Amino acid sequence: MINYEEPGLWLLATPSSAYVVRLGPDGAPRCAHWGPRLTPDQARALPPGREELPGEGGERFGVAGLQVRYGDAVRGVEWRHLGHEIDPGGDGAAGHLVIRMADRHYPLEIDLHYRVRPGSDAIDRWTTLRNTGDEPITILRCDSAAWTVPQREDYRLTHVTGGWGAEFQVRRTALATAETVLTSRRGHSGHHANPWVMLDAGDATEDHGEVWSAALAWSGSWRITVERDHDGRAGWSGGFGHEGVTWRLGPGEALETPAFSGVYSAEGFGGISHRWHDHVRRHVLPEPRRVRPVVFNSWEATEFDISQAQQMELAELAAGIGVELFVMDDGWFGGRTGETAGLGDWWPNPERFPDGLTPLVEHVKRLGMAFGLWVEPESVNPDSELYRTHPEWVLRQPNRHPTEVRNQLLLDFSRDDVADWAYDRLDELVTGDDIAFLKWDMNRPFTEAGDEVWVPYIRNVYAVIDRLRAAHPHLMIEGCASGGGRADLGMIARTDQIWTSDDTDAAQRIAIQHGYGQIYPACTMGAWVTDSPNAITGGRTPLAFRFHVAMAGALGIGGDLRRWGPEDLEQAKHLVARYKEIRPVVHGGRMDRLADWAVQYTLDADVVVLSWRPTMLVRATAPLRLRGLDPDGRYRDEDTGEICHGALLMSHGLPRPWPFEGVSELKRFTRVG
Ligand code: GLA
Repeated sequence: MINYEEPGLWLLATPSSAYVVRLGPDGAPRCAHWGPRLTPDQARALPPGREELPGEGGERFGVAGLQVRYGDAVRGVEWRHLGHEIDPGGDGAAGHLVIRMADRHYPLEIDLHYRVRPGSDAIDRWTTLRNTGDEPITILRCDSAAWTVPQREDYRLTHVTGGWGAEFQVRRTALATAETVLTSRRGHSGHHANPWVMLDAGDATEDHGEVWSAALAWSGSWRITVERDHDGRAGWSGGFGHEGVTWRLGPGEALETPAFSGVYSAEGFGGISHRWHDHVRRHVLPEPRRVRPVVFNSWEATEFDISQAQQMELAELAAGIGVELFVMDDGWFGGRTGETAGLGDWWPNPERFPDGLTPLVEHVKRLGMAFGLWVEPESVNPDSELYRTHPEWVLRQPNRHPTEVRNQLLLDFSRDDVADWAYDRLDELVTGDDIAFLKWDMNRPFTEAGDEVWVPYIRNVYAVIDRLRAAHPHLMIEGCASGGGRADLGMIARTDQIWTSDDTDAAQRIAIQHGYGQIYPACTMGAWVTDSPNAITGGRTPLAFRFHVAMAGALGIGGDLRRWGPEDLEQAKHLVARYKEIRPVVHGGRMDRLADWAVQYTLDADVVVLSWRPTMLVRATAPLRLRGLDPDGRYRDEDTGEICHGALLMSHGLPRPWPFEGVSELKRFTRVG
C-alpha cells in the first residue's frame, strides 16, 4: 500500500516494512524512514533525512546519483516539486507512486517511481528523466535510486565477489568510512561482482537483526556506491552504467532507468533471503509455477566433439535415469567444431547433422524428453559466414583495434537490424524443430563500446528474449555468461533459470550456491551432476554427494553418461527419482541456511534437509538445528518412519555422525496429524 498522508509525505507499507518519503525544505524528496512498519501518525512525526536521488550543486559533496550538464555547460539540479501520481494498490494490486519533480530553471523533468507489489517486501524504485526543452542535455549519471539506512553505531557490508568458475563468494566486512564502489564495467553484470548489496549494523546473524538490502534489475554495466560518512550516516546509490559513460538526452526524449529494489528485514540474513526469494518467485520470474525439468546438458561430456550418433546415445542414457529435457550444448552449428569458428551461423553443421536436427530431436522426443539447444546470439567468430557477410555488425570503434576474447567479437546489439536478425534466426530455429529450451550464453565482455551502446544493447537483448517468449509461450530459457556472469534480476525477469557457474565440482559448488542463494531462489539455480574427477578442478566426490549438492537447485546432469557404470546409472536413477519428490519443496518452499554446509526447505507440511561435508575442515559435529517448524507439531522421518517433535528438531537438532569427507545426506520430514 502507498498513501499520501499529508502534503509532501508518502508512506509505503509492505507486509513487514515501511518506507517514508518527505519533501525537504529545499524541495528535494528525502528518505524519512526505511525499517519496521509505522502508523501514519508515527510517519508524520519523522523529519526528512537524506535525499532520494542526490544531485550536484549546493552543499552536496557526497555521491551524486544524478549528474547532468545542460546546453550552456551549467551542471546540477535545483529541485522543484510538480506533483505526484498515486495508485495506492492493495487487494492484490500493486501500488505505484510517481513523485514528479523538475529543475527550477532548466527543462528537465525527473520522475521518482516507487512500486510495492502485493504480498512482497520489496520496494521497486526507478527514475525517469525527460528533456522538455529544445536543446540536448548530457546525462553524466542517472542512478535508479539512493537508499539510506538509519543511523547506527557501526555498519557491515555484505556483497559477493568472484571470477569465472568461482562466482558469488560472500564477503562480509566492516564498512569503511569512505565510498566503496561495487561495479561492473564489462557490459554484463559480471562474475567478479553481482549487482546487489546488504548493510547491517554489525550485529545481524542468520536469523536475528536488521538488514537492509537492494538489488538492481540490470544485466549490463552497473555501479553501486556505498557511502559511510564521518557523521556515521550510511547508504548507497546505484544504477546502470559505470563511471564515464554518458547519455545524450535529445529534445523531447526520456530516459528510464532499471528498477533498483530494496528489501528490509528484522530477521537477519535468512529473513532477507526469504523476502527476496518470495519476491522473485511471485513478481520477477516470467513463469514461476513452471516445473523446472531435470536437464541433461552435453557440454562437459563432449565439449566440441559432437556427432548425431553420440548425442542419441547420450539421450538414451539420460532418459534411462529420468532426465526430462535433453540439451545439446555448443558445437552443433555452422563450422563450430572448436572455439575459433562458426559463432553466428545458426544452422546445423552439415557434416555432423546431414539431415538437420530433426532426427535427433525426434529421437529425444520418442525417449519422452523435451529438446533444447545452446546458443550465443550476441557473439560472432571472425571465421564465420555471418562475419563475412556483415562485418559492419560488430561492436567496435573507429581507429581502435577490436579485441577478441575467446576468438570472438560481439555483435552490436544496440543496432535494431542486428537484434531483428537475431530474433528471426532464433524464431526460425525454435519453430523449425519445436525447440523447448534455449541456453542463451554470452561468453565475452564488451570492449570498444561507445557511450551510445551500453544501455540500448542490453535493452535489445531483453527485447529479443521478450519477443521470443511472447511468440513461443512454452519456450524455456536459461541465462548464461560463461557460467554465472549475467545473473541478475533483469535476466531472471525473462528467463526460467540461470547457469550458475562452469565450476561443477560439488565440493566447490557449495560456496557458489551459498552466495547465489542470498538473493536468487533455488528454482532459478541451474546445478549439474558431472563426472569425478571433475573436468576443471580434478576434485573427486562420490556420486551421491554430487547429487545432494545439485538437488539444492534446479537439478541437471552434465557428466559423460557413457562412462558411468551400470551401478552409477542405477544410483543416478534412484537419486533423480528422489529429487523429483522433493523438487516442489526445494523450488517452492522457504529456504533456511542451517550452516554453510546445510540447507533446509520447508513448504507447508514438507521439510527437506540437504547437508554435505565437502572436506575434513568442515566440523560437522554440532547437531543441525532445523528452523521454522511447528514446535507443537510432530514430524515423520520419511526414510525411517520415526516420529520426531518439531520443538526437539529445532532445539536439539539432527545428529551429525560424519567421520569422513565426501559424505552427504538428504532428509525428508512430513508434519503429521
Ligand atoms: C560457456 C558456458 C558453458 C558452455 C560453454 C560452451 O563457457 O558457461 O556451460 O556452454 O560456454 O562453449
